[in-house]
Amino acid sequence: MTEQRGNWTSSAGFILAATGSAIGLGNLWKFPFITWENNGGAFVLVYLVCIAAVGLPIMMAELLIGRKTQQSAVGALKEAVGPAWGLVGLWGVLCGFTLLSYYTVIAGWSLYFFAKTAGWMVGGFPTGTSLGQVFTEQSANGGLQIALSLGFSVATVSVVYFGVQKGIEKIARLFLPVLFVILALLFMVSFAMDGSREALTFIFRPSFNELDGGSVLEALGHAFFTLSLGMGAMITYGSYIARNQSVVKASGIIVLLDTVIALVATVIMFTVIFTAGMQDQVGDTGTVGMLFISLPQLFFAEGIVPGGAVLAPLFYVLVALAALTSTMSLLEVVTSYIIDEHGIERGKATLACGGVVFLFTILAALSFGGADFASNLSAPGRLGDLLFAGKTSWFGMADHFVSNWMLPTGGLAITVAVGWFMTREATESELVDETVPGWFNYNTWRFFIRYISPAAVAAIVVAVLFFGVDFS
Ligand code: PHE
Repeated sequence: MTEQRGNWTSSAGFILAATGSAIGLGNLWKFPFITWENNGGAFVLVYLVCIAAVGLPIMMAELLIGRKTQQSAVGALKEAVGPAWGLVGLWGVLCGFTLLSYYTVIAGWSLYFFAKTAGWMVGGFPTGTSLGQVFTEQSANGGLQIALSLGFSVATVSVVYFGVQKGIEKIARLFLPVLFVILALLFMVSFAMDGSREALTFIFRPSFNELDGGSVLEALGHAFFTLSLGMGAMITYGSYIARNQSVVKASGIIVLLDTVIALVATVIMFTVIFTAGMQDQVGDTGTVGMLFISLPQLFFAEGIVPGGAVLAPLFYVLVALAALTSTMSLLEVVTSYIIDEHGIERGKATLACGGVVFLFTILAALSFGGADFASNLSAPGRLGDLLFAGKTSWFGMADHFVSNWMLPTGGLAITVAVGWFMTREATESELVDETVPGWFNYNTWRFFIRYISPAAVAAIVVAVLFFGVDFS
């Protein structure tokens, strides 16, 4: 079975693929917006603490389960921890399935805005265009939404179809460097803009009186999302790591890159917004607003972004690439489960999984006014309230359920499994070898994974249950 599954060709290939999974819409779409909503500074600091104290140890935990067992989420947890833990793996597969089904819709928007901005680059930005209207019209157009999502799904399926080496690793090796270059270019341009100082101050100067308990939990919840933790993606990617490749070093690099990219993206976006003096309007456009409503027009406005007309389509290429390297990891979680546990061959498994997920993507695609049955739902009763917090679209419900319930509970189960149900010897032998970097201390890690991480994650679950905090 091991030969059939394949391995990453090199440590660098693996690190790029895992970093690609981590860097995604979470970095470019969610993080800047929640930083904005929580008034920057102090929130960013808390987020960084969550990444280091909870994200990094759990990243190592997931990768080590994968590398140790060389199996996808369900089989890995069964073998490393015990048969009943397969259920936690199954919960992860379900989470990957659900997340993929609606993530694809937002990814599809990046294709639309690429096409739109490329058109404006060539033909000029039509004066008087309302970007709010452009956005609402495209998202309410059911046929268009299905077509865009289908395009993105086909891309995802095509990558996963070719497997770990010829599909996922190859695309990550090709696209991640492109992504880094585009981001670096935008970053440099942003430094030449007037608003950059103001943006940096907003992001990095903490003022703690603006921080409440809800913000702390939101930072923690986002740490899971952005690092692709809590649902088996990193277990699955870890299962393709060869025995001589270090889990610890790789975890450090993945977490660092993901964090740097989130901060860089935020600096770029805030610089544009401050330069344009748009700070009062951003809040009104909701989560989707910053990336798809406020930004597109600013690239074309006079005197804000130097070379903006050319950078705009490039920016949406960046969003699409970041999303693709994440969707392929989500589909891989589901597909590798079918391959490993049900013995189905990769090609067939990928097409089947991609197809079934797409049926749910259609619901998500029609959630923005495209069809009434997807846009206007209600979950009755107290349980409905608790699970979906009054969300009224399929998309809203799915996103709420994944971010608030599935990732935190999955994450909690994984920390408990690794910290309390695996022996010290079992975890130590995976983490500590001759390649282990000097900054790593096994006992410290074990303390974090046994006490700090589960306590922090339990705090999220309690917050959701008793205080109704919403991370989606
Ligand atoms: N980490 C991805 C992002 O930030 C989302 C994701 C979560 C991808 C879980 C895979 C698994 O967009």
